[in-house]
Amino acid sequence: MKIDTLVVHGKGKTVNDTTRDIVAPLHLAAVFSFASAEDGADLFEGKKEGYIYTRLGNPTLKFLEEKMALLEGGEAAATFASGMSAISTTILAMANSGDNIVVSRPIYGGTFALLKNLIPRWGIEVRWADVVKFPEEIENLIDNKTKLILTESPANPTLDILDFKKTAEVAHRHNIPVATDSTFATFYFQKPLSFGIDIVIYSTTKYIGGHSDSIGGVVVSSKDNIEKIKDKTLVDLGGVMSPFNAWLFIRGLETLGVRMERHFSNAMKIAEFLSNHPKVGKIYYPFHPSHPQYELAKSQMTGGSGMLAFEIKGGREAGKRFLNNLNLCVVAVSLGAVSTLIEHPASMTHSTYTAEELAEAGISEGLIRISVGIEDIDDIIEDLERGFEVI
Ligand SMILES: Cc1ncc(COP(=O)(O)O)c(C=O)c1O
Repeated sequence: MKIDTLVVHGKGKTVNDTTRDIVAPLHLAAVFSFASAEDGADLFEGKKEGYIYTRLGNPTLKFLEEKMALLEGGEAAATFASGMSAISTTILAMANSGDNIVVSRPIYGGTFALLKNLIPRWGIEVRWADVVKFPEEIENLIDNKTKLILTESPANPTLDILDFKKTAEVAHRHNIPVATDSTFATFYFQKPLSFGIDIVIYSTTKYIGGHSDSIGGVVVSSKDNIEKIKDKTLVDLGGVMSPFNAWLFIRGLETLGVRMERHFSNAMKIAEFLSNHPKVGKIYYPFHPSHPQYELAKSQMTGGSGMLAFEIKGGREAGKRFLNNLNLCVVAVSLGAVSTLIEHPASMTHSTYTAEELAEAGISEGLIRISVGIEDIDDIIEDLERGFEVI
């Protein structure tokens, strides 16, 4: 079946053959009872399948995990309390003290802070390579202590694209798994696993939920990797998803197809509008012909999603005036919501970067990031025009 059908129906018409629900039940239980003392011991020993305690597993989380694995084309999935929990748990599952990981730049400011401040404290070295030249640059960074390659594509906030196929080829020659944060595009527009990427990471807070009302993360990969990440690491670190949030993400998935189509078509129109605007410098949108990686984007994505960025002429000060004069677009971080969210990465989502780190990552002072919502495009454009009037 096609993706627009799969997001609605998952693997079948009913969730449970006995109750025949057509909606996944919400299991709020933190704890499950054993049929007997022997039953409890067997469950702990893994001799039989069942639920013990929600940190170890829960039927609503399992439903979301199975659906995400199906939609992403992976063998298995794990759910997390947040996208950050998904990223940190994956790193700690793969690398030990004394190892190193190679990471693409730019990357979301929260991930950057984790990699700059915390990961080195656990004895794991972080080596950086430019996302655009990544396959070439990592050849010189990888050694026998490299245990994970962590990437983000499209990259937050500059919308640079990672060449999945070339990156996987280099990494696999050295037997290193590659993880990609696919939050910006989702499986709706790209399937990194089909290009050889090993692990797909999400902040489900964004497009999967779609309504800015729940924080969560998901990782999709092989059964072996999920066992390492979930059973051997997450269960002990403890950053598990709340069943209620899982239920919201399950509901969000059902409308993901129509939302993504609208995010994409609105973003294409905004990219066109901005590309002709006298107060705008460069625009960053992978499906606009002006994007330097337009051909690569089209070869590994089926749509440009709803994220775009642009340079405002006049830098940071002009950017502030622009944001302060908007009426409809919400000045806020996060992304992937039904409403248009707009922000200034250098002072907001990426404020964990120093001025030099911003420059190294290609994030300029005048960069504005838009998460294009699903409102009427004429109203969004009229609002952006209102912002430009004061600069
Ligand atoms: C690309 C990307 N990955 C991960 C995260 C972190 O997700 P969360 O806020 O759910 O922890 C974000 C948050 O903005 C993000 O943009």
